[in-house]
Amino acid sequence: MATKKAIHDFYQMKADGKKVTWLTAYDFPTAQFAQNAGLDMLLVGDSLGMCVYGYKGTIPVTMDQCITHCDAVRRGAPDTFVVGDMPFMSYQASDQDAVYNAGRFLKEADVDAVKLEGGTRVTSRIRAIVEAGIVVIGHIGLTPQSSGVLGGHKAQGRTAKDAALVVEDALAVQEAGAHLLLVEAVPPEVTEYIAKTLTIPVFSIGAGKECDGQLLIVSDLIGQFQAFTPKFVKKYCDVAAIITQAMREYCEDVRNGNFPEDQHCYHMIDGEKEKFMADMAD
Ligand code: KIV
Repeated sequence: MATKKAIHDFYQMKADGKKVTWLTAYDFPTAQFAQNAGLDMLLVGDSLGMCVYGYKGTIPVTMDQCITHCDAVRRGAPDTFVVGDMPFMSYQASDQDAVYNAGRFLKEADVDAVKLEGGTRVTSRIRAIVEAGIVVIGHIGLTPQSSGVLGGHKAQGRTAKDAALVVEDALAVQEAGAHLLLVEAVPPEVTEYIAKTLTIPVFSIGAGKECDGQLLIVSDLIGQFQAFTPKFVKKYCDVAAIITQAMREYCEDVRNGNFPEDQHCYHMIDGEKEKFMADMAD
């Protein structure tokens, strides 16, 4: 079994040019699979709103839901670095809310770090959480919780002017004390510049490969999420098709009387069947 990685391991990996692997997980079995597969990090993303609860977006997700799923993931992956994702309105209103809710993730679900969205506009939140002794991951570029003000779920930094704003956010997040940075849906050349400029490890989701590690949403990777597939997703298998086919075959077997078979039944202990029949005949 590999030993659980900590923040200094990710810094060392950046220095050594080794890529860090990061995936979302929302439940106990998936966390077990991920740990067995050798993932370095897991994110219990607020994407669970769409991937698990069927909401249209992440806005309705609550702290309690996030904690419940972090707790399950922690049990499934006790030796993996687990990140709790701060949901909408768990940090937007004040530094105090941010520290209190970040602390809940550690106390109630034993996570290793928290992630929050935003650049220059959340630096005081990042500073406050770091001062409370909690590992923080910044998240810039496309930040789904504020997709309304971004004009939808759109790639960011595609003009020179917008790219400069993304770089400004990245520098602000590092300056505020964040330990790692996630860049979402930004052109690869902008991410590469950020990863080379920042001393903290920089991760991409839909932001190219010239950085220190990658994140994907597990429900996209395994072909479970049906509503849409972002351009940056690589689907490694199609569990939706596999599960649907298995369910179809089960229905057919039940309807045709082919399930259960003898091997699926608990038979009576030797000699008891005869006694049972005799008792019933009396
Ligand atoms: O919630 C999540 O899974 C995320 C990713 C989209 C980066 O924040």
